[in-house]
Amino acid sequence: MHHADVMMNEANNGRFYCVYRVSLWAHAVNCLDRHVHTCPERVALIWERDEPGSEFKVTYRQLLEMTCRLGNLLRRHGVKRGDCVTIYMPSCPLAVASMLACARIGAAHNVVFAGFSAEALAERIRDAQSSTVITVNQGVRGGKLTELKKTVDTAVQSCPTVQQVFVRKQLSLFGCGFITMLWLLHVISDNAQEMQKEDVVCEPAAMDSEDVLFLLYTSGSTGKPKGLVHTQAGYLLYAALTHRYVFSYHDGDVFGCVADIGWITGHSYSVYGPLANGGTSVLFESTPIYPDPGRYWEMVQRLKINQFYGAPTAIRLLLKYGNQWVHKYDRSTLKTLGSVGEPINTEAWEWYHTVVGDGRCPVVDTWWQTETGGICITPRPSNPDAEIVPGMAMRPFFGIKPALMDTEGEVLTSNHTSGALCIAQPWPGMARTIHNNHQRFIETYCQPYPGYFFTGDGAYRSKEGYYQITGRLDDVINVSGHRIGTAEIEDVVNQCSQVAESAVIGYSHNIKGEGECNSFIQRLPKTRSGKIMRRVLRKVVEQDLNGLGDLSTLDDPAAVQEIIEVIVNII
Ligand code: PRX
Repeated sequence: MHHADVMMNEANNGRFYCVYRVSLWAHAVNCLDRHVHTCPERVALIWERDEPGSEFKVTYRQLLEMTCRLGNLLRRHGVKRGDCVTIYMPSCPLAVASMLACARIGAAHNVVFAGFSAEALAERIRDAQSSTVITVNQGVRGGKLTELKKTVDTAVQSCPTVQQVFVRKQLSLFGCGFITMLWLLHVISDNAQEMQKEDVVCEPAAMDSEDVLFLLYTSGSTGKPKGLVHTQAGYLLYAALTHRYVFSYHDGDVFGCVADIGWITGHSYSVYGPLANGGTSVLFESTPIYPDPGRYWEMVQRLKINQFYGAPTAIRLLLKYGNQWVHKYDRSTLKTLGSVGEPINTEAWEWYHTVVGDGRCPVVDTWWQTETGGICITPRPSNPDAEIVPGMAMRPFFGIKPALMDTEGEVLTSNHTSGALCIAQPWPGMARTIHNNHQRFIETYCQPYPGYFFTGDGAYRSKEGYYQITGRLDDVINVSGHRIGTAEIEDVVNQCSQVAESAVIGYSHNIKGEGECNSFIQRLPKTRSGKIMRRVLRKVVEQDLNGLGDLSTLDDPAAVQEIIEVIVNII
């Protein structure tokens, strides 16, 4: 029996996941070898490249081969168990093979979203102490070319730990699709076609269930991103279980998660969940409006996608373009529609349900976080006819015990109430620590409400006991489903010589969820103890001057009046 099965039984019995710490084969085995034994020619990945109609399919046998060659290449170049490899690539099969190759040899991977700047990449490489980086020379998205290797070249100049960079070379031929040469160029030895020389068999490392599988950086409420650590057994179990049951995934289905692999959604629902279940997963490398706003639905028709998983920001954008872009394409293969990343407003929910899903597919609004590893609150699984209220994440997944806290730190037991969202007991997919900073992990998640995991979000529990997420309670804003710490932006703005200090706040934006408003002014509203009152700034930007609330703790109330004059004129 595979270790994940043991874990699954544990979870089903409702017992704590970490009772047994046994060794298991690396993830690559659970995600690949198992399926190669039973169905080698099944398609594992459909790489939906930028140009519609240029998709590229990779079978389980091919993905295993690619992963083994890469695993051997990394091993031959000294990457060993416990090392951390940074992957800076768009969603593509080689990025997945790179993740699985790390897992196979027992190295942790650290995927950095390929849209991040050299500075952001460098910060993550330094914090992860990576000695190896894997990248691609260039990427193309929405018809635009990006020079990823150049960004890596700049980043590694300030990363003393980096000893080697592997670069996949690909050629872009606009109009003819994107031709990829699956070889690696080892830049240090300048040795082309390294990968092709490697053996297709790569002995998997035996790992402890609590060994690190990957780090993934996410924004917190201070300037420094947090490298959340996910471990072997619990994470895979949770990704696989939620993938199968939340989306009602059945063998033979084509699963279309359009998130980039640089985010946790891509990790859990483009890579680990679908592959652990022997599924067929779409890797989407384009944008919702390239070449036109029908892209998603044309792709659904062409690839016969059964479960579509996307973000409210894209849904809100597409509904503005009108229904004709949806009606043009056959969506009869769709069975479940998923939403993730931010609250989905009722208008977007209704459009997704009635126009995209023709009113016949359940919409699963899935609430979770990088920290939780997988979906925690969502309408399914449940009995197929169970009610789904538009805009609500609804019910906890197996083993998740949500708790709402009041401002005194007491658990709210009644319904029809709002509070800080916590989780009352551990679950398999939870992050175990912050890389190199366990104290920050404890302070952020465990200390605010002792005995509970604090999510940083607020939630409402309805009369019927259903959950609705109301948004972040900390200084983190959500722009187009991406989590950005206000302090991160402030750090950058403060580097301008003309800026003494800054306060970044989010305000509602009807497509992006929140936008940032940056304006320079003479002074910021502060409490007497020197804390910037961001809530006041937010109200001013939202032009809700009656909602400024209690200003009695302000050091100098005149600062607010000055800001009102400047900002209201701008907006
Ligand atoms: O505020 C919540 C919001 O996104 C945050 C997690 O962001 P990240 O770690 O980048 O992961 C995004 C993908 C899981 C949460 O703290 N969020 C995520 N899903 C939802 C959501 N807010 C409301 N409804 C959701 N379904």
